[in-house]
Amino acid sequence: MGGVNKAQWRLSLVDPPGVGNGKPRHGYEPLASVWHGEEDAELLEKLIRFYPRKRPRLILDATVNGGRFWRGSQRRVVGLDIERRHEPTIAGDNSAMPFRQNVFDVIVYDPPHIPNQGRDKSKDFNVRFGLGGRSPKECDYSFAHTYPSFLAEAWRVLKPEGLLLCKIADYVHNHRYQWAHIDLIQAARAIGFCPCDCIVKVRKGPIVDPKWKHAHHSRRQHCYWLVFRKSDRCE
Ligand SMILES: C[S@@+](CC[C@H](N)C(=O)[O-])C[C@H]1O[C@@H](n2cnc3c(N)ncnc32)[C@H](O)[C@@H]1O
Repeated sequence: MGGVNKAQWRLSLVDPPGVGNGKPRHGYEPLASVWHGEEDAELLEKLIRFYPRKRPRLILDATVNGGRFWRGSQRRVVGLDIERRHEPTIAGDNSAMPFRQNVFDVIVYDPPHIPNQGRDKSKDFNVRFGLGGRSPKECDYSFAHTYPSFLAEAWRVLKPEGLLLCKIADYVHNHRYQWAHIDLIQAARAIGFCPCDCIVKVRKGPIVDPKWKHAHHSRRQHCYWLVFRKSDRCE
């Protein structure tokens, strides 16, 4: 780690080698728990600088899609996606990953969204870019049943003390609030991950579905970035 002690890493007093000029920053830079910026890529870079104890060398995006999270990034990222048409680095299933154990420093996960049922623009967006998916009634219209098998694989291929960064949104479906972020935290805990932090990412306005003009649920105006560590301690 060449002259940089563990405490400095943890406090982000210096840029990780290869990022920035390697000189100590002036003071500690806190990370706020609410993010109002537009781009996930910008926030993700902040997370990757803030949380790791060691400079992350190899990153896996386990649901890479078109790679929007890595636009403009110099990071070494392996992109995995089950859909070949997105042209990932490797086409494959994140519940049976084609990697050896303990190879990645960071894994990023952004599971499919349940598309809004109305004819709104976000639904078109989800369909057009393959971001959304369908979950049948027997799975309670949720993707929570896919979390355990992904998480078991993420645990296997992540190095000890490695980070798992997940973007996840709750939603209302079938007249019920779907607690996706709680489902994910519970599933991750069951595998052994330490849930370490939660960033709320706020969008400009709430998603309004024209089909549900008088829904008696608050309109979702945020999602979460959850931070897990393959460790028994957060910091
Ligand atoms: C919400 S999108 C990810 C969007 C991406 N983060 C971005 O900003 O461009 C979810 C992606 O997960 C992929 N996916 C769904 N199930 C998967 C699986 N079992 N293994 C790997 N990829 C999967 C989908 O094909 C889709 O591209």
